[in-house]
Amino acid sequence: MADVIRVESLKRIYRMGDVEVAALQGLDFAIPEGQMVAIMGPSGSGKSTLLNLLGCLDRPSAGRYFLGGEEVGRKSDDALADVRNRRIGFVFQNYNLLPQLTALENVELPLVYRGLGRTQRRKRAEDALAAVGLAERRHHRPLELSGGQQQRVSVARALAGEPDVILADEPTGNLDSTSGEEVLRLFLALHKSGRTIVIVTHDEDVALHTERIVRLRDGRVVADDPVPASSRHTLGEVQEL
Ligand SMILES: Nc1ncnc2c1ncn2[C@@H]1O[C@H](COP(=O)(O)OP(=O)(O)OP(=O)(O)O)[C@@H](O)[C@H]1O
Ligand SMILES: [Mg+2]
Repeated sequence: MADVIRVESLKRIYRMGDVEVAALQGLDFAIPEGQMVAIMGPSGSGKSTLLNLLGCLDRPSAGRYFLGGEEVGRKSDDALADVRNRRIGFVFQNYNLLPQLTALENVELPLVYRGLGRTQRRKRAEDALAAVGLAERRHHRPLELSGGQQQRVSVARALAGEPDVILADEPTGNLDSTSGEEVLRLFLALHKSGRTIVIVTHDEDVALHTERIVRLRDGRVVADDPVPASSRHTLGEVQEL
């Protein structure tokens, strides 16, 4: 299968005055279309830095990044934002929902940048919320929802854009085990329907639900191994999403 993500000698150096932090020191890997990958590593190892680069929220200091065969590392800010809007769905640990908007409006918002008309936007957002089991909560604001429900809204928002790749940074990090499992189940469902998913996690159990674990340490890949089917954790029957 074609690689949807490929990085070559990818580096990110943060410069703060005279101080330089080499957060990523030259990464090389590829992710084939449809794969579900976990990124693990200690705090400060560069996981979020990597995810931000893959999500076109940031630009590499050196090296190359190809998304869907297209080099995105050197694009202008506008072009980068466009790639992000079209191809990437992001899910963050703290949900990143706008508090003054309802669940439905939060899911609809990114679709504005996709050039969809109002009716189409509403329909897609309603479908996405229904898919994550929140049709009934669509007029609630984030603070009127539990953490797990807020995260499901954020998964719906990522899903509604029909992205090529879904990137998640500690999506279950703030959730209790039951809500965390519900959210993980959504990712497994998205994977089952063929989406490419990259999920940063501290939780070995979450990682063992994926097909591959990439481990970072000090900005380098120190291990990159498939999770054999025999040791893979499952949540029973998962429906496509
Ligand atoms: N905006 C920034 N400016 C300067 N340094 C940064 C910035 N963001 C991250 N860093 C540094 O880069 C390194 C990697 O940080 P990163 O946030 O990618 O780690 P992480 O693996 O996501 O850690 P955690 O598990 O705690 O979320 C750390 O040394 C961090 O201090
Ligand atoms: Mg992080």
